[in-house]
Amino acid sequence: MAERITCVNGQLLVSNNPIIPYIEGDGIGRDIWKNAQKVFDQAINLVYGGERQVAWQEVLAGKKAFEETGAWLPDETVETIKDSLVTIKGPLETPVGGGIRSLNVALRQTLDLYACVRPVRYFKGVPSPLKEPEKTNMTIFRENTEDIYAGIEWEAGSAEVQQVLDFLTEQMGVTKVRFPQSSAIGIKPISSEGSKRLIRSAIDYALEKGLTKVTMVHKGNIQKFTEGGFKKWGYELAQEEYADAMADGKLEINDIIADNFLQQILLKPEQFEVVALTNLNGDYASDALAAQVGGIGIAPGANINYQTGHAVFEATHGTAPDIADKNLANPCSVLLSGCMLFDYIGWKEVSELITEAIEETISAGQVTADFASLIPEKVGLSTSDFTECLLKKMRLAG
Ligand code: NAI
Repeated sequence: MAERITCVNGQLLVSNNPIIPYIEGDGIGRDIWKNAQKVFDQAINLVYGGERQVAWQEVLAGKKAFEETGAWLPDETVETIKDSLVTIKGPLETPVGGGIRSLNVALRQTLDLYACVRPVRYFKGVPSPLKEPEKTNMTIFRENTEDIYAGIEWEAGSAEVQQVLDFLTEQMGVTKVRFPQSSAIGIKPISSEGSKRLIRSAIDYALEKGLTKVTMVHKGNIQKFTEGGFKKWGYELAQEEYADAMADGKLEINDIIADNFLQQILLKPEQFEVVALTNLNGDYASDALAAQVGGIGIAPGANINYQTGHAVFEATHGTAPDIADKNLANPCSVLLSGCMLFDYIGWKEVSELITEAIEETISAGQVTADFASLIPEKVGLSTSDFTECLLKKMRLAG
């Protein structure tokens, strides 16, 4: 009987037939999800011979939800995702004007998905702007709930910003706002709780994967209390909770200033294994690193709360309206997000089988149009033909 995944004391309980909700996604979501589901189901079948299978449950969000229910993010969807813990989603069209700013942000906030996790690695055969793209191999842990992204800001010229300015000048003695009459103001909260839970997730992930290096990326040289706090609390946490692992040489914590990090990922990316970043720095670094290994078409991601177990795995690209419903999209981002999902629920053999099939297919020169357009004289495969290649590779391996 199909059962929902549960979490007891931070441990996931996964039956042989877990119910996993999926959001198909708008635009190319329609092209990539149906193909990805075939790959997932076949991989599970090959590995477990029918003993395990996922009961996929569609939940609505985005434009499809709006057209069918009148809501961009129906309550029923949020409830099902809450109850099921683990969800996978395609890209969602952002509603224009009013209401929800971003559906992704709404989901992250509702479920307090504080860690945005992005493994970044190179697949041989993917066009990259680097000479040695295979040297980039690290996992990003970006804090997802704090920082300037908390959405606490006031528009220039508004009565609210005037109140904030009055408070700053009259009560806090602030004299450094250069142009008070025309300033917008934003607030950047960074807490020890928020920093520690994110850095703890990064360290636990490293230890679980047998990696030793965790690097905190920050701008503490300028923003001493917020970004500097992130770094300070990270070192504190390491002493409080991981002193043994450090003494045994299983863990090494260090830090780097964000601008230098952006240089180093191009010059010497091999020095990083797991990196922990505040929200805004993490946003920039995620896209820069994705570009180094081939871009958003192949970059997977997840937003996770390791305490409650809630996790939403997602294709990191958008809905690509220019190629939607044309059977042209690259399904690798959602496929690799699925691999992260299978790792997360402990079905590692499934993610290995899919990852190997992707490795072999791409290195054999079988790629979708986005990659083909960057390789001279290469003709791209359709989404479904690329998927067929994967299915065939898995059958041969499985
Ligand atoms: P986009 O990622 O949809 O497209 C940027 C470019 O990359 C386009 O040329 C597109 O064809 C290409 N591309 C993206 N994914 C691809 C794939 N899997 N295979 C081949 N080519 C691919 O970004 P854009 O155009 O800025 O946004 C379009 C819509 O998507 C907007 O409504 C935006 O709000 C939404 N969006 C949703 C996201 C999410 O749900 N996670 C993330 C980013 C954007």
